Amino acid sequence: MKKQILFVDDEPNVLDGLRRLLGDCRETWELSFATSVDEALRKAMETDFDAVVSDVSMPVKDGFELLRGMKKNERTREVPVVMLTGLNERELKRRALDLGAADLLNKPAEREDLVARLRSVLRLKSYQDEIKAHNVTLEKKVGERTRDLADSRLDLILRLAGVNEYRDKVAGNHGLKVGAYSRITAEAMGLENVFVERLFLASPLHDIGLLAVPEKVLWKKDVLTFEEWELMRQHCVAGHTVLGRRISGGDIFHSFWENGSRRDYDPNRNPILKMAAAIALTHHEWWNGKGYPNGLAGRDIPLESRVVAAADVFDELTSDRPYKKACSGREALATLRKAAGEQFDPDVYAAFDNAFKRIDAARQQFSLAAGAVSGGGPA
Ligand SMILES: [Fe+2]
Ligand SMILES: [Fe+2]
Repeated sequence: MKKQILFVDDEPNVLDGLRRLLGDCRETWELSFATSVDEALRKAMETDFDAVVSDVSMPVKDGFELLRGMKKNERTREVPVVMLTGLNERELKRRALDLGAADLLNKPAEREDLVARLRSVLRLKSYQDEIKAHNVTLEKKVGERTRDLADSRLDLILRLAGVNEYRDKVAGNHGLKVGAYSRITAEAMGLENVFVERLFLASPLHDIGLLAVPEKVLWKKDVLTFEEWELMRQHCVAGHTVLGRRISGGDIFHSFWENGSRRDYDPNRNPILKMAAAIALTHHEWWNGKGYPNGLAGRDIPLESRVVAAADVFDELTSDRPYKKACSGREALATLRKAAGEQFDPDVYAAFDNAFKRIDAARQQFSLAAGAVSGGGPA
């Protein structure tokens, strides 16, 4: 592709002279001409020039105005400008360089000089263009890679959250619903975006420890005995172990990852798993300290678990179970209200209440998707 070069001078005969001087360069250069700064700036907005050659002294607006105008505009900022000045105009030369001129040439320009200088600024410009294009491609690739990683992480969490459903068909989407409700509540609390994202991804795994609970307990239609309750309660510690333990052999496994190039990998640093493990352990703790497994109270219970606790009970109440029918969203909200300050953090409840419309809309979406099997109908 031909290089686009713009020449600016208020005297048409100077431009004619340049046109003649560079006549034999037209195979590789496309020459354009402007007799004023305004005309030059207009043309620079229409064509992507590779270089501009301009006189300094012009009536109305001079070459410095052209330089300033080009530097101000995103589209023309990087275009190199070569300034033509008189042999002894030292002050003008200094100002031109201060304003960002790429090079200076004495007037009248000798052909050899002009061609050599233009070649050199054009070469520089094409390097810059290459680097720019390379950066754009890199940014695009990084963006795609980041999206792919985020998608595959989300998919893994969806599959993991579905593990319980493989055994317990009744619990339809419990983990995912708790994830959605927790997210809406956390947003209503004005919590930081990073925290909200993490909570959204970690909370669907809160009941993964139910894997440790025997099916006869999980599926029992009658009231659980004390021993069965004990077994049920173990899902908190079991979930914490599954999500938080250091897996023996993990280091060896990682040494095979990317041919051992990721020696710095530390599985305990994964912030989503860390939060998921904390939630698994503490999502049945109560604000007043009467929950399990450790009887934590108030702000000793991690914030993420206080949010999940409300979302968890809300889904429990609005879902059909072998031992009970679902209630409506509004009825469940009323039950939560009664337990605010006892079972639930009052601030979490307040946010839940504020965001109830969105939460209940999400509930209905899940309910419709599940063929309206559960959910108790619109609130
Ligand atoms: Fe649970
Ligand atoms: Fe749960």
